[in-house]
Order: sequence, then structure tokens, then C-alpha cells
Amino acid sequence: MKKLLSFLLLVVMVVALAACNSDTSSDQETSPDDSNDTPDTSEQEAEGTSDEGNDEGGLVEIFSWWTGAGEEDGLLALIDLFEQEHPDITVDNAAVSGGAGTNAKAVLATRMQGDDPPSTFQVHGGDELNEGWVAAGKMQPITSFFEEQEWMDKFPEDLIDMVSKDGEIYSVPVNIHRGNVIFYNMEVFEEHNIEVPTTFDEFFEVADQLQQAGVTPLALGDKESWTATQIFENILLGVLGPDDYDALFSGDIPFDDDRVVEAVELFEQTINYVNEDHASRNWQDAAQLVANGDAAMLNMGDWAKGYFSNDLDLATNEDFGYFPYPETDGNFMVITDTFGLPDGIDNEDDVKDFLAVLGSVEGQDTFNPLKGSIPARVDADPANYDEYGQDTMEDFTNSRLAPSLAHGSAAPEGYLTKVNQAVNIFVTQQDTDNFINTLVNAAADLQ
Ligand code: GAL
Repeated sequence: MKKLLSFLLLVVMVVALAACNSDTSSDQETSPDDSNDTPDTSEQEAEGTSDEGNDEGGLVEIFSWWTGAGEEDGLLALIDLFEQEHPDITVDNAAVSGGAGTNAKAVLATRMQGDDPPSTFQVHGGDELNEGWVAAGKMQPITSFFEEQEWMDKFPEDLIDMVSKDGEIYSVPVNIHRGNVIFYNMEVFEEHNIEVPTTFDEFFEVADQLQQAGVTPLALGDKESWTATQIFENILLGVLGPDDYDALFSGDIPFDDDRVVEAVELFEQTINYVNEDHASRNWQDAAQLVANGDAAMLNMGDWAKGYFSNDLDLATNEDFGYFPYPETDGNFMVITDTFGLPDGIDNEDDVKDFLAVLGSVEGQDTFNPLKGSIPARVDADPANYDEYGQDTMEDFTNSRLAPSLAHGSAAPEGYLTKVNQAVNIFVTQQDTDNFINTLVNAAADLQ
């Protein structure tokens, strides 16, 4: 009997311990390194925020994919600013981890379909907004709000176009990220006496030289395939130029055009220079290879600049340098994160208060220096930005803009999903015909 009792006691203890462990693990915050793993839909909360709202005031739920290293600093600073200006409104920072919205976009789609929109959510200007949520009737126009805020001439026209459909504006851009930039480790370049490459040929010469010296030429972390899609879109831009790049997505140039084939071949050549473990790394892990000198270069949107400066404490133009993706100088692959007013929310005024802060000079100059992006407003103060930011602002004004495919602007979400899958297969199999065929078939999703 005694034996039976102690056995039962043991079973109870084991079960209790297991329950305890699983509790702790589901409570854990996403760490920088696993920030791109399985979807974390637990709606991580920023410091000092809660679900409940203030006694007298409202609650604004902000949905994004800005969690963890290299992603969240700008958002948290913006939330702080908003809370200082509106102590009566509580912010619920509902962020779902995963670069480029890999997981967040799926969670958002489920919520929107279930008529449970967040108060406001991160959405890229261009097709992701206009052909996605606006076309589906899920957003409210905010043109009159823009006018009330006297914003009509405070954002570049091209950017206003990216957040407009049929003459109405639907969201407020918080930033402009650049996608066609390569960051490099300056010490590695110096040590091997390497000049910044400006053409594809020069890029491959440099890559050969680095490879022979035992340095990985190009860091890639395509655990999520958008990072490789981003390289491909930059090569497309380099080969076709901005007009014909656009014509691919308007259906005027077919995806089996000779120049697309040429771009695919250059893409294949490029991915032969990446780290072997690329498929198990996310973008932050890949950026670390460049930071510690194991790899020389990284093509990444300039959220990587935020990561280098704020998380890894690297100095601009001392530790890391930057140059436009080869053969894309004079062009700017534009990515803009924007926030709008979903249909069916019941706290419109509070959300507008948040959008007003996000669209203000102070809001933009609080967010962008931390995010690595430049302000969307034309009247923000360049003095708040370091050399990278100031150079990028100048480039933005002097460049032709091209909408990013990998970040939702050039084509609708359905098309992008297919391209990301095809890129993922291509990186492993390197079958050009198969890749081109998939691009051609998927183009039926472009209207
Ligand atoms: C982009 C987004 C950026 C950054 C990046 C990596 O789509 O526009 O702000 O967060 O994804 O997750």
C-alpha cells in the first residue's frame, strides 16, 4: 500500500512539473534569434502597455511584425511618444514575429476575414494595401484627415500615390526603406583591398576574390524566402531598368522575356556565393555574419542598418559601409510601411490620434533614426539622421523609384506568395526553365 501511495505521489509530481514547464515556455518572449521561427500570435506587449485601456480613455491596438532585434526599437519609441501626448489612451502593441510579415500577414488575414480588425495595422503602400485591403472594402478613406492635418504637400506625391486608390488616400506612411542596398564589412574590404563593385561583372570579380581568400562573399538567411526574392528583384531592376521592371508587373513584358532569363542566370550565379547554412538563418543571423567578418556583404533592406547601429553597436562608415545594388545606382527600390483606418473599428478618434502622431515630424523623427529608414515626410529634419540616413534621403530625391515585389508594393499578395515559393525551390534546384514557367503561370494573378 505504502509503495502504491509513493508511486501515485510521484506520478502527480511529474504531471505537475510538466504542466509548469509548458506554461513557462508559452509565456516566453521571442528572443532575437528565434524571432522568425513559428508564428508567435501571443501579441507581445511593449513595456508599460496592457490590454485593458485606461479608466477614462480608449485603447488602440497596433498590429505589426516589429518584434525583436532590429525591428522593434522604432515602434516602441513611437508608442512612448504617443503615450506621452495621449496619456488617456492605452496602446496594445500586438506584434506577430517573422520578417517581412511572414506570419503576421496570415494572422491579419484571418482577423480581417472574421471581422475582427486591429485598430490599425502595418501594411505596405502599393498593391498590398490597394489591391488587397482597399479593394476588398476593408479600409476607410482618410483623404479628409490628410487635409485636416495639412499633410497634402508634406509627403512626396509618389508616396501619396502608393497609398491611394481611385482618388482617395487610405493610409499614412511612417517611413521609406530602401531595398537595393548592399551593406559591407569595411575591415574585410580593406584587408583584401577591395573596391566597391558597381556592375554585375565587378560584383562577381570581388566575390571570386573573397571566396578564394576564404571569406563568404554574400551573407544570406533565407529561412524565409523573401530575402532571396529581394536579391532577385534587385537583379531584375538592374537588368531591366525601372520602366521595364514596372512593365513586368503591369503585364506589358512577359516573364519569359530574354532579360528575365538573363536576370535568373545572374541570380543563380549570385547565390553560388552565399554561406552554406543560408536556409537555417533569418535576416538578422545573416547580418551577423557580416558584422563579425565571416561574410563580406549583405543585400538587405535598410532595417539592417537599424540592426547594425542599435543592436550590434556598429558605426556607420567605420564598421560597415553601403552601396547601391550593382547596376541599380540612380534607382531606389522603395518599401514604405504605412498604417490606416480599417473598416468596422469602434475607436476611430483614438486611432486618428495615433495616426496624427505617426505622421507628424516628431513622430517620424523619433521612429526612423532607430528603424534605419528615412522619414516619409519631406520636412523632417536631416540632422536627426546619421550619414547613412542623410545619403539615403538625398538618393531618394534624386532617384527613379521602383516598387518592391518582395515587400508587397509591385504585385498583389497572391502573386508574391507564388514567387516566394518559386524562389525557394530555385535556390535549391537552380532549374531556370522551371522557375521561368512558374513566374509566367503566376502572372495570371497580376491584373
Ligand atoms: C519589411 C518591412 C520592414 C521590416 C522588414 C523585415 O517588409 O517593410 O519595416 O520590418 O520587413 O521584417
